[in-house]
Amino acid sequence: MKASSKKDLPVSQIRRFLEPGPIVLVSSAWRGQTNIMTMGWHTVMDFEPSRIGCYIWDQNHSFGLIKASKQCAINIPTYGLINEAIGIGNCSGANVDKFAKFALPPLPAHRLSAPVTQEF
Ligand SMILES: Cc1cc2nc3c(=O)[nH]c(=O)nc-3n(C[C@H](O)[C@H](O)[C@H](O)COP(=O)(O)O)c2cc1C
Repeated sequence: MKASSKKDLPVSQIRRFLEPGPIVLVSSAWRGQTNIMTMGWHTVMDFEPSRIGCYIWDQNHSFGLIKASKQCAINIPTYGLINEAIGIGNCSGANVDKFAKFALPPLPAHRLSAPVTQEF
């Protein structure tokens, strides 16, 4: 009989096996303020119209900008931006201009008030 490789894991470690990818950068703008945050908890939910579900903690600075503007841009970074993605996800736009800190200049988007960056 084949030995079972099934393991019982602590609930605190389960999310590692369930989290979707890829890691994205969510940019936002409201009343002259711009911001960008890292997001991993998102999933495609519909084709047409395109719908994406995500979790953004209400204590994140981005939450207020997105809630007020009702807009954000989802930027998909290349692997070369991994350090920027980690850094952007570990500081807050409430205290720092992350576009300047991580040298990712914000560019106007075509149909959104939220900026995008030219790197991705
Ligand atoms: C890899 C990674 C994934 C993250 N995923 C999420 C997420 O899905 N939702 C969320 O609210 N915060 C997530 N965060 C944390 C936010 O990016 C972090 O709290 C950030 O500082 C918020 O920035 P802000 O205060 O400028 O909005 C993630 C951070 C990292 C490093």
